[in-house]
Amino acid sequence: MTLSETHETETQDAARALFVELTGREPDGLWSAPGRVNLIGEHTDYNDGFVLPFAIPHRTVAAVGLRHDDRGRVRVASTFAEEPVEVALDELDDLFPTTTGAEPAVPEWAAYPLGVAWALRQAAADAHGHGFRGIDIAIASDVPVGAGLSSSAAIEGAAASALNELWSTGLDRTALARVGRRAENEAVGAPTGIMDQMASMLGETDAAIFLDCRSLEAQVVPLGVAEAGLAILAMDTRVKHAHSTGGYGERRASCELGAKIMGVPALRDVSTSDLPRAQELMDDVTFRRVRHIVTENQRVLDTVRVLREQGARAIGDLLVASHVSMRDDFEISVPELDTAVDAALSAGALGARMTGGGFGGAAIALVEQDAVTTVSDAVAAAFAASGFRAPALFTVTPSAGAHRDA
Ligand code: GLA
Repeated sequence: MTLSETHETETQDAARALFVELTGREPDGLWSAPGRVNLIGEHTDYNDGFVLPFAIPHRTVAAVGLRHDDRGRVRVASTFAEEPVEVALDELDDLFPTTTGAEPAVPEWAAYPLGVAWALRQAAADAHGHGFRGIDIAIASDVPVGAGLSSSAAIEGAAASALNELWSTGLDRTALARVGRRAENEAVGAPTGIMDQMASMLGETDAAIFLDCRSLEAQVVPLGVAEAGLAILAMDTRVKHAHSTGGYGERRASCELGAKIMGVPALRDVSTSDLPRAQELMDDVTFRRVRHIVTENQRVLDTVRVLREQGARAIGDLLVASHVSMRDDFEISVPELDTAVDAALSAGALGARMTGGGFGGAAIALVEQDAVTTVSDAVAAAFAASGFRAPALFTVTPSAGAHRDA
């Protein structure tokens, strides 16, 4: 059994045990969904652009069962919360969408699975006008929280997969990803794009998902990282971030302003050759936000081409250029992320960049398999020298997306 399989079993056992504790019966099944690392393409998703994420071995498991009473209630419990939360299914439409600035109606952790139940019910009701049985959901996860590895998309993916099956709503994976995003945007109140949910639903072993966020067309791009003698090191700075507040929404607003000034529906429609004109039309900050998105979209396309033509060993410079653009133009990096990237590169990584929404969370480095320890030690030493909290360092292999486990 590999390390990740051991973790998976532990997480499954924890979810099942919590379900039994909550309900006194066995669940109808276990469903799980992974976190993700984005290889390249940051903040491009809500600009209708391109992204290239992959699913990681860390997963959230939902142990779920239909309720045998006829009270139409949904109850959620989680190993990281003290108390379960219970509401009537019919009440979900009063709870969500959450009004901006209002006191949250349920604790944030519960808004993810309850938001999924709400959004799935609405999506399915639009299609078939179904009635739904009450449900119990118990959640356990080994996806680090607040690390920029999409612990939230993992909860959404596991819950959506379970409810889709138990409620026989028959939505496909893309529709379930949309349900997850709706929960995130309208129940939790984080104005994110759809990358994380798509990565968590569609992930494949040893491959990344090349996603066009306008059409939602997805292509599986083999990575061949291990075959090339390489590994991907995740460097969690342990600086927590939250996308429901502050910088993320501001960046999104700047992008929307940039698109408006350029007279296009989204920055996806601006190309690198339009940048001189953009620079004349907008203030410096908006221009730099726009330049990040436009060049990042191009870097995703270049990375896919280089992966197909030359393999993983050749993408290092694109990863570094992406980090520089996020640090200097989009301004979403923090000193800990820059330190992780710089130290990894100085210790011989082929490429490195922060991954996810920024303002904390994790960076990744592409390293020779036999240099994982050297690079990890160098990053840990650089953090200690700067007086930062010790980072969490672990390798991530591209893994399978959401599925039923048992
Ligand atoms: C977060 C969001 C995603 C995406 C990334 C940045 O992970 O959830 O939708 O915008 O940030 O690429």
